[in-house]
Amino acid sequence: MARVTAGITSSHIPALGAAIQTGTLHNDYWGPVFDGYEPIKAWVREPGNMPDVVILVYNDHASAFDMNIIPTFAIGCAEVFKPADEGWGPRPVPDVIGHPDLAWHIAQSLILDEFDMTIINEMDVDHGLTVPLSMMFGRVEQWPCRVIPLAVNVVTYPPPSGNRCWALGEAIGRAVASFPEDISVQMWGTGGMSHQLQGPRAGLINAAWDNMFLDGLIGESDHLRRIPHIEYLRETGSEGIEMVMWLIMRGALGPATRLLHRHYHVPCSNTAIGHIVLEPIAPSSIGA
Ligand SMILES: [Fe+2]
Repeated sequence: MARVTAGITSSHIPALGAAIQTGTLHNDYWGPVFDGYEPIKAWVREPGNMPDVVILVYNDHASAFDMNIIPTFAIGCAEVFKPADEGWGPRPVPDVIGHPDLAWHIAQSLILDEFDMTIINEMDVDHGLTVPLSMMFGRVEQWPCRVIPLAVNVVTYPPPSGNRCWALGEAIGRAVASFPEDISVQMWGTGGMSHQLQGPRAGLINAAWDNMFLDGLIGESDHLRRIPHIEYLRETGSEGIEMVMWLIMRGALGPATRLLHRHYHVPCSNTAIGHIVLEPIAPSSIGA
């Protein structure tokens, strides 16, 4: 059967993609950001660690969706997803190859589990999806695994609650575990951390709160699922709500996790960047 083998969070800041493209990723400003990904870029290339499929939780930034349609949760079931043109031409990265069999299985399982998913059969994917792939896999001719896009609305109020995101992750974990092929799946949650892009508090970064959130992803606690929207807004700025997407990743890992890698750095463009890698702990091993 399929299994979720690891969970990864990553920023998806568009400026990271620009740094890669312009070859400035080793300068004084970007160097500490990219250095933080080196341990896990090496880890994922070790035997047994490259997943067959990544379920990549992200938000679209008015590339595939706009005010005409705002799906709360949308799953990409297509064979291929092309990089979106976000105004400067598509990012020069490979097409994203999907996994329609697993994606449709997850869609069916989630809907029968009472999550009303939007199913997307044609969609271009923007920096929210492709920048994390670049951060983990570098510049490549083709991505080394298949990717199922899972888009979450965190742009237009109301975004889903953290609790609903965590529960969706749990349901995705059940869906993966019931897929009859022996494949490994990583859950990625992208976006965040604290940042505000406009208004009097533009530039807000809250390192203490961000690190509290990172702490809460590790181990057995599930208290992060109960953080209300107003706390994200107050403590992490108007765009910090992207962190609810990380809770989908965390929910899919089950009751407890083990930390493999953690990196936090300020500033990165207008934000704090947080990158964390977790392994699920089998329920039989919790407390052992
Ligand atoms: Fe974003």
